[in-house]
Amino acid sequence: MGKVAVAASVVCTAAVCAAAVLVARQQMKGSGKWAKAEAILRELEDECWASTSKLRQVADAMAEEMHAGLASDGGSKLKMLISYIDKLPKGDENGVFYALDLGGTNFRVMRVQLGGKEGVINKESDQVSIPPHLMVGSSHELFDFIAAALAKFIAKEGEDFNLPHGRKRELGFTFSFPVRQLSLASGTLIKWTKGFFIEDAVGQDIVEELKKAMERVGLDMSVTALINDTVGTLARGKYNNPNVIAAVILGTGTNAAYVEKIHAIPKWQGPTPKSGETVINMEWGSFRSSHLPLTEYDQSLDSESLNPGEQIFEKIISGMYLGEIVRRVLYRMAKEASFFGDTIPPNLKIPFILRTPVVSAMHHDISPDLKVVGSKLNDILEVPDSSLEMRKTIVEICDIVASRGARLAAAGIVGILKKLGRDPVKEGEKQQRSVIALDGGLFEHYTKFRNCLESALKELLGEAADNIVVELSNDGSGIGAALLAASHSQYLQVQES
Ligand code: GLC
Repeated sequence: MGKVAVAASVVCTAAVCAAAVLVARQQMKGSGKWAKAEAILRELEDECWASTSKLRQVADAMAEEMHAGLASDGGSKLKMLISYIDKLPKGDENGVFYALDLGGTNFRVMRVQLGGKEGVINKESDQVSIPPHLMVGSSHELFDFIAAALAKFIAKEGEDFNLPHGRKRELGFTFSFPVRQLSLASGTLIKWTKGFFIEDAVGQDIVEELKKAMERVGLDMSVTALINDTVGTLARGKYNNPNVIAAVILGTGTNAAYVEKIHAIPKWQGPTPKSGETVINMEWGSFRSSHLPLTEYDQSLDSESLNPGEQIFEKIISGMYLGEIVRRVLYRMAKEASFFGDTIPPNLKIPFILRTPVVSAMHHDISPDLKVVGSKLNDILEVPDSSLEMRKTIVEICDIVASRGARLAAAGIVGILKKLGRDPVKEGEKQQRSVIALDGGLFEHYTKFRNCLESALKELLGEAADNIVVELSNDGSGIGAALLAASHSQYLQVQES
């Protein structure tokens, strides 16, 4: 488990980043197209720069919006959605449970065998990529596709997984989009994010849609819990470490969830659960504030997106968008500074052609001649003859864009700590140890992004950051969903009563 104390010797400080920028810049030629490219680069750097004081303002604004979103529906851009999860797994769950995980370009079905104190004894899963036309088609088609994959998975099962007579298979359904929950196992879709846009599903009860599709393929399973991936990650994290108080996803999209006291939720309706707590899915991707450092590239990306004016925090932080921001900067350089020569490489005009894993690979290139950058430019943009100066400039753009995202994500985490009164700067000596479970490819695989996030947390929290731990919590959207199905199992309730 990649456990990282924030206070550890993380060296990617703002000063180091700035020095790298300076060196690259000195190596650039001072005339003609380079002068124009340099001007565009400097402007980008200035506009993206999130100073410590700006990050503090973002953290304060996040904490304020959290209060407002809890007070009333529509009280804030932050939805602060109630999950109705009141029993996070304790680590003694037993039995076989299933998870369905829908939230990005891939869809997964999983079976998890829990062995009480022994933890997860076995897990098996199938992954299917979602054909792009289903991401913008009809609800019926998407759910039929999901139910068919689930039925296929179950059909392959051996006798080992036969359940006692009268007992149904139980499923945790991770649906990683904003859902207003009506109960633990029902909820209506508020809107799509991350490039999905299936109009007839908005406002529908997602679990009902799934159940109808399961019926169509003759599958008889119970949907025990409908959850967000952040909620699954929180459950998964807490299963391993009781000090986990919040979870953050940094992947295709970005979002956070945390444990909140019922009495701190003015908009809470219904009986108070025994624990007096529930998990809140913040939908922090929709956060926006005048303190966010936004650029013309962000504005055009947003206005040309499927959801203009929405998910602004997500659009400057998450994996779906970082590559596209870099592409937009390069496009302007190509147009106004003839950065790639007299013509604009045709592929550079294609939205989303630069994926974030490519940005990460270029950003981490440590070869003297930036070989990786050269080959990506050749393979993706069909630019065969890039100079070293061009490559250095591109690495710098990646650094500016990724650092802004990482630093803002850190500010978001500090906002949650503030809301929970766990802001160590304030608490001084008495602070509790707080663990934040993180998941998502951006955090897991983009090392510079992760280092930058950790150093920004240290920058914001100072010495007291020793008690804030950021921990990779893998596969919350799969295992976490199965764990929540287990901790809320209908058969458990029968046994308990
Ligand atoms: C988007 C979704 C949110 C999800 C996040 C990470 O922001 O709206 O529900 O948690 O992506 O997958």
